[in-house]
Amino acid sequence: MNSRLVIITGANGAVGNCFVKHFLQEKHTDCVAVSRSPMVTKALHCQVDLLDSKATEEAINQLELTGFSDVVVIHGVGKFKYEHAYRGTSLDHSQPSIDQEVFRSNYHTFVNVVKPLVQKLNREHQRGYQTRLALCGFGSITDKYKIPFWHSYTYAKDSLRDYIKDLANSQKWRGLIRGRFINVSTTDTGNENKLRPNATTQEKKYWLKPEKIVKQSIGFLERFTPLWQEIDIYEPLPGFDPQAYYRNYKTIRSKWERQMGVG
Ligand SMILES: NC(=O)c1ccc[n+]([C@@H]2O[C@H](COP(=O)([O-])OP(=O)(O)OC[C@H]3O[C@@H](n4cnc5c(N)ncnc54)[C@H](OP(=O)(O)O)[C@@H]3O)[C@@H](O)[C@H]2O)c1
Repeated sequence: MNSRLVIITGANGAVGNCFVKHFLQEKHTDCVAVSRSPMVTKALHCQVDLLDSKATEEAINQLELTGFSDVVVIHGVGKFKYEHAYRGTSLDHSQPSIDQEVFRSNYHTFVNVVKPLVQKLNREHQRGYQTRLALCGFGSITDKYKIPFWHSYTYAKDSLRDYIKDLANSQKWRGLIRGRFINVSTTDTGNENKLRPNATTQEKKYWLKPEKIVKQSIGFLERFTPLWQEIDIYEPLPGFDPQAYYRNYKTIRSKWERQMGVG
């Protein structure tokens, strides 16, 4: 019988928690909820700071993979930061420095889980098992527009994309590792509400619900092909023209600074 092990990071966050709830109801599925802070869950709980590579490696090494046909990693961690330092309103081609806290939160938290996991998987393969691994990261629907106000976040998400894509496309894994990247529009999470306290009720009506992310992504996650796939999930805003909006830095800045209550 096929069975799978699903590891969900950021399990205490809105998006991660929705995936935990989904997988807890699935048959032949063992669920590991990873969080930094304590949490109550029916999943196997693993409390670890994913920025601590040694502690994370130890936690991963404690997981038993033998007997699972599939291992899935859903990475629900990734700090966002609006970067006030950028005051321009037009295209600026100079490369500002990357905020390391944002980079580490989005990129290293994932690599710290996946590196030891892939080594463990390799050992399983050497023992003759054909265990598959599915890796799933989240990005923003805005990543393709390279918005300067959150360039560190976009840079970190692009690095994460490349990391997953390279593993999925690598000949070495002969199709046993696949990658998914789910780009979402503003999502109704605790952090987003904290970041943008002045967003209006009308604006929040179009914030994506984490349940919708699970519902719309699950089919893509479960499919074994293609080995690499990106999907966009968003709440359609009537009359919204992304090409025009994301090129108009003045409008983006005034909307964000109003919603955040700064400026
Ligand atoms: N919200 C949005 O609008 C939006 C838009 C685009 C993409 N995304 C992406 O979607 C994903 C989930 O977003 P979200 O808004 O649900 O995130 P969130 O509310 O910030 O939740 C993230 C979770 O990650 C945990 N976490 C943070 N740092 C950690 C660390 N070092 N070790 C272990 N756990 C850590 C937090 O745990 P603690 O509670 O212990 O701190 C929290 O439970 C992220 O990748 C985010 O970048 C979100």
